[in-house]
Amino acid sequence: MDKFEERKQDHIRLSLSSAVEAFGGSGFDKIQLLHEAMPELDFDQVDISTVIFDQRIATPFYVSSMTAGHRDADPLNRVLAAACRRRGWTMGVGSQRRQLIEKPNLSEWDRFRKDFPELKIMGNIGLSQAISSHSEEIQHLADSLQAWAMIVHANALQECLQPEGTPQFSGGYQALARLTQDLSVPVVWKETGCGVNSLTLNKLLGTGLAAVDVSGYGGTHWGRIEGARAKADDLRKEAAEAFSDWGIGTVDAILSAKELAPLREGSGKCSLWASGGVRTGVDSAKCFALGADYVGFAKPALVAALKGEEFLNRWMEAREFELKTAMFCLGISQIAEFRQRQVWKWRQSPVTKN
Ligand SMILES: Cc1cc2nc3c(=O)[nH]c(=O)nc-3n(C[C@H](O)[C@H](O)[C@H](O)COP(=O)(O)O)c2cc1C
Repeated sequence: MDKFEERKQDHIRLSLSSAVEAFGGSGFDKIQLLHEAMPELDFDQVDISTVIFDQRIATPFYVSSMTAGHRDADPLNRVLAAACRRRGWTMGVGSQRRQLIEKPNLSEWDRFRKDFPELKIMGNIGLSQAISSHSEEIQHLADSLQAWAMIVHANALQECLQPEGTPQFSGGYQALARLTQDLSVPVVWKETGCGVNSLTLNKLLGTGLAAVDVSGYGGTHWGRIEGARAKADDLRKEAAEAFSDWGIGTVDAILSAKELAPLREGSGKCSLWASGGVRTGVDSAKCFALGADYVGFAKPALVAALKGEEFLNRWMEAREFELKTAMFCLGISQIAEFRQRQVWKWRQSPVTKN
């Protein structure tokens, strides 16, 4: 197994352990959705379809970027793709860095695309690779997938703690502005579980991005994963411990973005996506209530996908049902209504679960 494969396999294996999740850090438990005891609607009037990039799509959910760069990913990608197609979810693939470096035979993606022609897929590349590559090379990555959008991910903490890391982010905003001009598909920026603050968001909005995924702290934590991966005598192991709580919670990150709402509403509106520790349809309803347009799940979708397509389909259906139920109990029949009504407050008393 080569280094790329080994690293991706390590990431998948280690991400499955609960010890690498920043559980509780997302802030969802501090948000109370305001129960509507008398919703003036019937459950079957609740519609979770939404509009992203001016297109109506069946659900407001996507599987966040995870698998792409290793050979064993094909069966897993196919399980994810089959369930996403069935349920109308969008699928993000993991980093395509390997494709940039090795210029491999792309027949695997061709076959994959032939089997899932109508699926909406999002390509993925790291910020430092986006900075050091020509726009044509990134366009080529998008074309190889017939991507619906191209995601550029920023993972500053992980790049420092990963022995093979590339923490070279100078020129990041410039690279994003270039790609938003040059690529034929919408460009999305995302974090990978450490969130984003409002100053950075403000600057990101100036680059012409089509969407920003805050991917906040509270779920998969790359400091913890790289810490678990590091050898005992590696100083990165100790550092990973010191950084195990590093990040901006998903709730705080969405609210920071909401402060910038007037900017987002301007010409070339930037869509706000939320991921990072989203585990249930109720968490997703909180994201929509706080201002998100689209919500992503990574680790829990991976865990379900490893059990097969049927299991994943059932898992997705359960998240959709939870969102619909939350909407019914808020008296909301359309995702767009979340933006028109105040349906949450800060929770006063701690949550107690028996
Ligand atoms: C196994 C695994 C691999 C991942 N690989 C990538 C990647 O290649 N590119 C990327 O942008 N994010 C990657 N992520 C980050 C996720 O897309 C997401 O931002 C993060 O895991 C937070 O979501 P979660 O708490 O639902 O897992 C990966 C996550 C997991 C669990």
